[in-house]
Amino acid sequence: MQLSERRVALVTGANRGIGFEIAKQLSGKGLTVIIGARDEQKGLEAQKRLADKGLDVHFTLLDVTDSTSIMAAVGRVEDTFGRLDALVNNAGIMIDTETSVLELSLDLLQNTLETNAFGPLLLSQGCVQIMSKHQYGRIVNISSTLGALTDIVNPESDYTEMKSPAYRLSKTLLNGITALLAKELRERNILVNAVCPGWVRTDLGGPQAPVSPEQAAETPVWLATLPDDGPTGGFFREHHPMPW
Ligand SMILES: NC(=O)c1ccc[n+]([C@@H]2O[C@H](COP(=O)([O-])OP(=O)(O)OC[C@H]3O[C@@H](n4cnc5c(N)ncnc54)[C@H](OP(=O)(O)O)[C@@H]3O)[C@@H](O)[C@H]2O)c1
Repeated sequence: MQLSERRVALVTGANRGIGFEIAKQLSGKGLTVIIGARDEQKGLEAQKRLADKGLDVHFTLLDVTDSTSIMAAVGRVEDTFGRLDALVNNAGIMIDTETSVLELSLDLLQNTLETNAFGPLLLSQGCVQIMSKHQYGRIVNISSTLGALTDIVNPESDYTEMKSPAYRLSKTLLNGITALLAKELRERNILVNAVCPGWVRTDLGGPQAPVSPEQAAETPVWLATLPDDGPTGGFFREHHPMPW
């Protein structure tokens, strides 16, 4: 193992969408970036697209629903780079757009929670062990306004017609995980924040969304590179704090 001189960031679900843009922008800022993807071919293709631009980008196989895959990826990061400075928990699914909470099955809820909340928690636990060794870390959880309880109960919300109860609950839980990790890690200079990227033109967001993946990546990249006196335990949108 050789200790990397540059800061190292791991981004999950970075083969496409917002995650790919976060990887691109972080590597553009001089970080070594590891693209985590559950499909080897897609992950290697994404890595090559950025490496061809001269960026220092690597790939690691990582399915966030599989604890063995998570721990293996954490081990590879430590063995290869000797450090980890930033983790962006970006991988996410929304598979219940037309489902009412009154009909939500526990299977569907379980599937969504595994990707959007349990995976980020397990991966954060593993990554914190590496970050703690050099007393520096930034964890960014890609959440959503759809998971903000304040927004869910607001009848004037732009999203009031949207159902997606499992997705919403998974992001509410991810926000809770963010707050708890931030509370626990403050003394170790590991800053943990959640961010809503807005409604973004990706496979998940659809073609009519107003925000580009490039714009959506900006606040997560800022949070992944915060100075030591930066915020922790916050929920942000376009660089501004928003209510949980
Ligand atoms: N788009 C929006 O409007 C919007 C709004 C608010 C929040 N978000 C959040 O932003 C994040 C990124 O979304 P996106 O819009 O970029 O979605 P996307 O284009 O659908 O990309 C999702 C990414 O997550 C990966 N992924 C899914 N399940 C995975 C698993 N088990 N293990 C590893 N990777 C997995 C996908 O990999 P595959 O290619 O293998 O499927 C893909 O790389 C998500 O957390 C989402 O909830 C998006």
